[in-house]
Amino acid sequence: MEVIIKQDAAAVAQVAADIFADYIKQENVVLGLATGSTPLAMYQELIRRHKEEGLSFAHARAFLLDEYIGLPRDHEQSYYRTIRNEFTDHIDIDDSVVLSPDGLAENPTEAGKAYDKAIAEAGGVDIQLLGIGTDGHIGFNEPGSSLVSRTRMKTLHPQTIKDNARFFPSAADVPIHVLTQGLGTITEARHLLLLATGEGKAEAIAATVEGPVAAFCPASVLQLHPHATVLIDEAAASKLQFAEYYHYAYDHKPTWQRP
Ligand code: PGA
Repeated sequence: MEVIIKQDAAAVAQVAADIFADYIKQENVVLGLATGSTPLAMYQELIRRHKEEGLSFAHARAFLLDEYIGLPRDHEQSYYRTIRNEFTDHIDIDDSVVLSPDGLAENPTEAGKAYDKAIAEAGGVDIQLLGIGTDGHIGFNEPGSSLVSRTRMKTLHPQTIKDNARFFPSAADVPIHVLTQGLGTITEARHLLLLATGEGKAEAIAATVEGPVAAFCPASVLQLHPHATVLIDEAAASKLQFAEYYHYAYDHKPTWQRP
């Protein structure tokens, strides 16, 4: 696992955009997208590069991590709509290849299986963007999620509902159930890029990077991945014991390995 610590959220967004842009330039790239507040600055930067520098997404396909169960696609807070509003409507990706789990499926178990199959048939995800919840979730894999789980229905932790209530009229309007890529699904992506900013994520980041690999902190599964990058700001890094070493390793990274 590589840990990159940048001064603030703006610097994190720049480096994340550099890493993502390298993949976008590849033919037939499969992107793994995430919703939430954290990736927004990176999406803004990629949109700017598309509009001002000609960065093209015409050959890209994209799979979203998760979706609320029961929200219609055109609901402002469905992730189907959110990813379009925040990102994909502003670039030249073909809308029909921006896929997300079907939160309205009558049979969520079958919908989960179908989603995993679609990812596999696309050749797998090249780079998967990840946020992290204050409880260590990635996607919507809450504590206790099997480290080898597949796309399936999950029940949100009350803390996640509280965290996400800011997007809804009230916490009572946040769906309780979701369809999320499993940890086994997520870790099949060839490169995982986890972003976190702000002090509120510091404990979850410490558990992810320096705690045991355990379903207690689902993001700790990144420790088992051969190519995982944890890109965070100083505030999110504030509880890491080896922060100085991570800085040192990054500063001494051979130039050919840099994004
Ligand atoms: P956030 O959400 O980026 O809005 O903090 C992250 C997550 O819950 O995965």
